[in-house]
Amino acid sequence: MSVKRVLMHIPDIIIAIDGYSSTGKSSFARLIADEFDFLYLDSGALYRGVTLYAIENGLVSGSGKIDVPALEIAMADLDIHFEGHGSRSMTYMGSRCIEKDIRTLQVSGKVSPVAAVPQVRDYVDRKLRELGRRKRVVLDGRDIGTTVFPDAELKIFMVADAAVRAQRRADEMRSKGEEVSYEDVLKNLQERDYIDSHRDASPLAKADDAIVLDNSRMTLQDQMVWIRGIIRDRFNLNGRD
Ligand code: DC
Repeated sequence: MSVKRVLMHIPDIIIAIDGYSSTGKSSFARLIADEFDFLYLDSGALYRGVTLYAIENGLVSGSGKIDVPALEIAMADLDIHFEGHGSRSMTYMGSRCIEKDIRTLQVSGKVSPVAAVPQVRDYVDRKLRELGRRKRVVLDGRDIGTTVFPDAELKIFMVADAAVRAQRRADEMRSKGEEVSYEDVLKNLQERDYIDSHRDASPLAKADDAIVLDNSRMTLQDQMVWIRGIIRDRFNLNGRD
């Protein structure tokens, strides 16, 4: 019997993955979703989608000042959602696929102030909770285990050295054709780390019951081995078929 088959028996749970920017949360969460046939929800993509909308509609200034009243009105009808499953999940705004547009450095440069607006957090939290009701979901973000799903059955908090994270993010962006310098990516990461952990509304923080995963020197495969062990122990799946 394969390990994978054992894990198919995992109960209907919510897996919350939080952590710093570019620790590889979404790649890890997508693989988990594929392996266990869970729904993957990328909370950062929702914040990025709202940010893209705000940029394209002139609701955020060059310095990051946000027209909150106008954004609040717009969010009443703003349809940002996911289509597809696991590693193929894509973010849409209405019928437009925005998966690529939300990953640019321009959006990354504005997303933290937008995500600090309480009304924006309410918008994203509502969407996530609605989708999470079905269970068998894996979500990644900054406050999933602390605020969005404080009762999630499995919480992971991901960390990695800033230099490793910046190199990974720069490589990823370059592989998608975006020209970026390592220094700009590192600066953006450090700024986001600071804003994300110091804002008033749901700051990035490790939940007391989260397990820390430092993947500075781990491959994705190493991480999958790690999580299989955690799940087997946590849900007493040893020896089950
Ligand atoms: O995971 P990401 O880099 O795509 O997230 C983009 C931004 O969204 C990040 O800088 C902080 C914000 N975010 C948040 O505040 N809370 C979440 N649950 C997820 C993301």
